[in-house]
Amino acid sequence: MLSRDPTFLGRIVSVSGAALTVHLAQSVASGLSIIKGQTYRVGQVGSFVRVPQGYQSLLGIVARVGAEAIPEHADTNEDAGRWMTVELVGEIVGDKFERGVSQFPNIGDSVHLASEDELRQVYDVPNQGHVTIGTLSSSESISAKISLNELVTRHSAVLGSTGAGKSTTVASILRAITTPAEDSEPHEKELYQSARILMLDVHGEYSVPFAGIAQIFSVEPQYQEERLYIPYWALDTNDLLEFLTGGLEGNRETAFTDKIFELKSASHETQKFSGVDSMSITVDTPLPFSLKQLWYDLVKTETATFEGPDRNEPTLQEEGDPDRLVPPKYKPHGMGSAGPFLNNQAAGIQRPLNLLRSRLLDRRYDFLLHPGPWEPNLSGVPNEDLDGLLCRWLGGEKPITILDLSGVPSAVLERLVGSILKILYEALFWSREKSEGGIERPLLVVMEEAHRYLSDKSDPLSSNTVQRIVKEGRKYGVGAMVISQRPSEVNETVLSQCGTFFALRLSNPSDRSRVQGTLPDGLAGLLDALPILRTGEAIVTGEAAKLPMRCRVTLPAKPYRPRSGDPEVSEKWRLKRRQESYDRVVASWRAQRPLAVVKDLDIQRDPVEDQGDRDG
Ligand SMILES: Nc1ncnc2c1ncn2[C@@H]1O[C@H](COP(=O)(O)OP(=O)(O)OP(=O)(O)O)[C@@H](O)[C@H]1O
Ligand SMILES: [Mg+2]
Repeated sequence: MLSRDPTFLGRIVSVSGAALTVHLAQSVASGLSIIKGQTYRVGQVGSFVRVPQGYQSLLGIVARVGAEAIPEHADTNEDAGRWMTVELVGEIVGDKFERGVSQFPNIGDSVHLASEDELRQVYDVPNQGHVTIGTLSSSESISAKISLNELVTRHSAVLGSTGAGKSTTVASILRAITTPAEDSEPHEKELYQSARILMLDVHGEYSVPFAGIAQIFSVEPQYQEERLYIPYWALDTNDLLEFLTGGLEGNRETAFTDKIFELKSASHETQKFSGVDSMSITVDTPLPFSLKQLWYDLVKTETATFEGPDRNEPTLQEEGDPDRLVPPKYKPHGMGSAGPFLNNQAAGIQRPLNLLRSRLLDRRYDFLLHPGPWEPNLSGVPNEDLDGLLCRWLGGEKPITILDLSGVPSAVLERLVGSILKILYEALFWSREKSEGGIERPLLVVMEEAHRYLSDKSDPLSSNTVQRIVKEGRKYGVGAMVISQRPSEVNETVLSQCGTFFALRLSNPSDRSRVQGTLPDGLAGLLDALPILRTGEAIVTGEAAKLPMRCRVTLPAKPYRPRSGDPEVSEKWRLKRRQESYDRVVASWRAQRPLAVVKDLDIQRDPVEDQGDRDG
């Protein structure tokens, strides 16, 4: 009688811990089963099965099907494709689903398809505290919901090959958090009005879809965007010097740090920053000081020569100009006993000083070294202080802040991201007891293309800071969402601390094994499906998902999709040939800015998604 039951799949042939091997019945050879008018796919990896045990039922997820699942002693010729392995995940008692199993099944027990009603019990979570990101792949009438608390506080990773749908998934999740669905109840409309999300948008994909609900900062601002600045003086001196001078040691380093300390102390003397005690200032206290003045003062010590009987009369011929980075001129030093004599205070730091000067002149680093209102004058007085910066980044009116980093050359990107993260980390660390802090207003930091700045080869500032965020961030209310197409290149500590994984199609074996290795449940087999997932289909596992789920992420309406469409080759190549000149390209290249010297903005926008899309 059982074998006539349309939900019947087969029988258990072995039980090993929570893993069951199931021999499929002849009747399910077709792969499809129709129950109460609903079509079910049988034995799909990631789908659910039920093992009735009297009053209660055990529930399991299909982890492997076919050849992979064949037990060693089976007659493979006859039975190939008729096996599956199932990982038990919980049980339904009455009409309630609970994780974990209290009893194991026996050999010979029958295994059934889990019906939609049963699935609904499994995935039934209250709307409160959850966001809907799509529907289950196996039954589209059941929504895939994730827990917002776990998503943010336990960190997450969105991983998949290029074009698998990562950016779209992220856009969809952020939309679900910030913009309640049209049909939601009135009391749910304002659900997360204090959401605080900061996005590091490496390709400038999110400005358009989130235009209305995000404040946007960019190194190359257009339209409504604001310019992105990062005051160098907010960074640790060590990190700053590493970048400015390529790293120093011994008394050369001391020459720099002593001078910076002196300038910072002087800056506090004139500005009297609240909360700062002049006795406790260190070289790392984030106080404004002028880099130009630093350079000038140090150059002066390095190049000064002296004459006179006591060798103490400076031979200054021409004052320089710190503001324009013109060094002072002294008489050249003479070899003989007549002098002029070199300065015995010089530390031999001409080379790092030259590097510092060229950094200050390099326009690519303007966002950091000439940070607009945060650039101090020669006496160390900026127009704006750090609170203004944090307020713009973290205290905006809108739920999302996008830092658009497109147009930043690769070499600079790592430094830029590292600096941003460092400032964020400090801000959240020091606000932990305050109402602006992350405990009261948690912050989600979304990092696109993380392999570019979180690999072990890149500038350690960003990966060190992110490691601290993922390890300790929970205590300060900071959560990380790491997005990458090359998980095997992302720093291992960072990935291993991510509690929730959105694994999209992923074909490269080393990337796949990295993802498999981080899976908390004994469900690594689920991820065997990674290479064959459809675009926008994800296996969600970990803390934010009650149970692992294979789901289709909602594709947002056209104006709300990330600006990441592929170039349409066949369409573009069909267009009429045009005369082209490449002077603008060269101008941009030389100026190291995508928009430099180019008046005609239209051409610069990615033509793939035009203005029409934005207006809906
Ligand atoms: N859930 C989905 N349903 C349907 N189509 C989707 C879905 N998600 C993404 N796509 C489509 O797939 C394409 C690539 O998506 P997306 O830009 O999100 O990929 P990606 O993984 O971020 O790629 P990259 O690594 O290049 O950044 C887009 O054209 C998008 O419209
Ligand atoms: Mg993308």
